[in-house]
Amino acid sequence: MTKDSSNAMWGGRFAAGPDAIMEAINASIGFDRRLADQDIRGSRAHAAMLGRTGIVSGSDAEAIREGLLTVLSEIEAGEFAFSSALEDIHMNVEARLGQIIGAPAGRLHTARSRNDQVATDFKLWVRDQIDAATAGLETLIGALLTQAEAGADWVMPGFTHLQTAQPVTWGHHMMAYVEMLGRDLSRFGDARARMNECPLGAAALAGTSFPIDRDMTAAELGFDRPAANSLDAVSDRDFALEFLSAASICAMHLSRLAEELVIWSSAQFRFVTLSDRFSTGSSIMPQKKNPDAAELIRAKIGRIFGANVALMMVMKGLPLAYSKDMQEDKEQVFDAADNLMLALAAMAGMVRDMSANRDALEAAAASGFSTATDLADWLVRVLDMPFREAHHVTGKLVALAEQRGCDLPDLALEDMQSVHGAISESVFDVLGVANSVASRTSYGGTAPEQVRSQIARWKERLG
Ligand code: ARG
Repeated sequence: MTKDSSNAMWGGRFAAGPDAIMEAINASIGFDRRLADQDIRGSRAHAAMLGRTGIVSGSDAEAIREGLLTVLSEIEAGEFAFSSALEDIHMNVEARLGQIIGAPAGRLHTARSRNDQVATDFKLWVRDQIDAATAGLETLIGALLTQAEAGADWVMPGFTHLQTAQPVTWGHHMMAYVEMLGRDLSRFGDARARMNECPLGAAALAGTSFPIDRDMTAAELGFDRPAANSLDAVSDRDFALEFLSAASICAMHLSRLAEELVIWSSAQFRFVTLSDRFSTGSSIMPQKKNPDAAELIRAKIGRIFGANVALMMVMKGLPLAYSKDMQEDKEQVFDAADNLMLALAAMAGMVRDMSANRDALEAAAASGFSTATDLADWLVRVLDMPFREAHHVTGKLVALAEQRGCDLPDLALEDMQSVHGAISESVFDVLGVANSVASRTSYGGTAPEQVRSQIARWKERLG
């Protein structure tokens, strides 16, 4: 490798080295060292291809591949001296390779540019994160399924506007999140399938005149095919944006569940008890048990969606092909991915460890006139009343109960008949919460039998 005082990689054209400030704004090694594993995977695949196609000799290719493993082991052992003068992970690895194997290292960058290299590395990294998010989601879904199964027929209030609406089952509520997270799984899966084209071989922007084999490197790196347009391959980051957007939606779901756990674990609700392992205390109020993990998960959407917006802003308006702006893609994605994985793991732990308080759920389910709709439906079914009229009559009965300071099932039959003479004893069958949920057997409804069949479907799906 030609050595020069200005820069080992492009010193040929430069007489002076960079200003310290230039180095500071330019260097990405402080964060892109996280791509070391992917960078070395990519370079080893590239070297194998260069050897196979005869672009470099078989022995040089082998020396490069071996040397890269040594570099990787140094990095993994924490023995690697990263240098910001060498700007990024790609040049740090290549420079160290030169120190280890000498001259053949200079042949690694044949038919390649840092532009296709970084696009490949970053894609591999994002793909790994999608796999990690998938595993994290499956664990969380498993914990929700366990909760749902234990309380498939436990009754709790269902809310709209956070006002008591109709009784639902605990299992049904848990399964609502399973459905949301299931769509998150499929969103990550879609993003993975779409992004799985290999940029390597696009070179700087135009492809290369060397007889490279892009199918070989794509297959070696687990891609479905090489990307079909070299300009596109080096200049889009939509794969990272799709990851961030799937991550944002997933974080939004986690945030909603977190919010419910915050509410449910309060002394006023007591729907759930969070485990000590996933709670914190107060330094001044000895009675406090705070749902900090849930609160932090609730907040994570801020930074994850922030990363999505930030990268959108970086990418908008960039002319093709590569611009250095794109180096700003990584920190956002790293931070979003780290926090998503943490949030998924914390939520899985919280859900696994929490215990639902069946009695409190049931007591709350019965209050707030939660079976008023059942009463209206009874008037329609048994007395053949038009629903609008039934709604009105039920409203009067609710007002009467409110006046008496009791719930609907506690009203005397005579009281009910004072509102509508045809109401008979059998109305009381539908006023209990257990009957209410048991009656909602429509597909996707809250009846325990429906909930159990959805649980079975999900268990099958997850294997
Ligand atoms: N560190 C750069 C990045 O993260 C690598 C690509 C540099 N390419 C270039 N033409 N300067 O984007």
